Amino acid sequence: MKKEFSLLRILFFLILSFVIFKCKSPVNNDSYAESDTIDIFEYNKELGRGINLGNALEAPSEGDWGVTIREEHFSIIKKAGFYNVRIPIRWSAHTLVDSPYTINHNFMNRVDQVIYQALNNELKVVINVHHYNEIMENPDEEKAKLYSIWRQLSSHYQDFSAHLSFEILNEPNDQLTPELWNVYSADLVEIIRNKNSMRPIIIGTASWGGLSSLSDLVLPEDNGIILTLHYYEPFQFTHQGAEWVDGSDEWLGTIWRNKATEVQSIVSDFITIDQWAAANNVPVFIGEFGAYSRADSTSRHLWTERVREEAESRNFSWAYWEFCSGFGAYDDQAGQWRNFLLKALIPE
Ligand code: BGC
Repeated sequence: MKKEFSLLRILFFLILSFVIFKCKSPVNNDSYAESDTIDIFEYNKELGRGINLGNALEAPSEGDWGVTIREEHFSIIKKAGFYNVRIPIRWSAHTLVDSPYTINHNFMNRVDQVIYQALNNELKVVINVHHYNEIMENPDEEKAKLYSIWRQLSSHYQDFSAHLSFEILNEPNDQLTPELWNVYSADLVEIIRNKNSMRPIIIGTASWGGLSSLSDLVLPEDNGIILTLHYYEPFQFTHQGAEWVDGSDEWLGTIWRNKATEVQSIVSDFITIDQWAAANNVPVFIGEFGAYSRADSTSRHLWTERVREEAESRNFSWAYWEFCSGFGAYDDQAGQWRNFLLKALIPE
């Protein structure tokens, strides 16, 4: 009798732990099974509307640039009607200096915590390697470190939810030329596919993620790739007064009023993206677009709405740049959305 009772207790405990684990952990809940296949166009459709949690984990240390991610941010984002969050991360500042470039354990834990918070709020998550400035200046020397970072991330996240996707590098530029980038991105896809045969991999262009080097991009043969573009045109409008862009104070006062010529130039850029994507059979994620807070609100509203509409009318998913900093759609201090931006992004 006593023995039966203990067995029952053990059984009860096992079932309870399993239930708790299943509820609390988005890690294994919906991870890929061996037999799964992925429809990358369908996945991109589900990515849908999103927002960047910028200026947090890609600062040298989280908080340095005024943004520390809190759990409630994700429910605020979800409730507003977004489906994805893109989380920029400066992994390169959190590894051992020399090979094997082991990622700092505490930093990895922090990123995991943020990913869980997003997944628990039923948001899809894009993580990337952001602000790896050294590799832009010196790709040959830094390449081993980038590859090692992805080997580690790929292994660490292999059993995570299928709602997590990998963007291999934010805005390659400078010495990381389009030719080199084609080689690096092919290598990185191979590295990632070793342990993540199905996870979506997001790849952008080598001209700061923009349109100008799209024609040089050669995507690896793989049916789980999403093309990403960043859209900040006209740059003198979106980056007026941006402290990190020399000379941008002279652009202050530039307006954008939905005039036919203004619209036409956005439309023609989006047609170029669409045609390239169709020819290469990949879906598109506009991973960043936004206008800085020193532009006037009416222009920001109109421009944001127009870019969002052009993206959606072509079935591109997107993530606005960004949540609560200089381009912020959300005012974290006041605890409220900036309605003129939120309405442009989520009109319903
Ligand atoms: C950079 C940000 C910058 C934004 C707009 C992003 O890719 O990481 O620092 O504010 O682009 O320029």
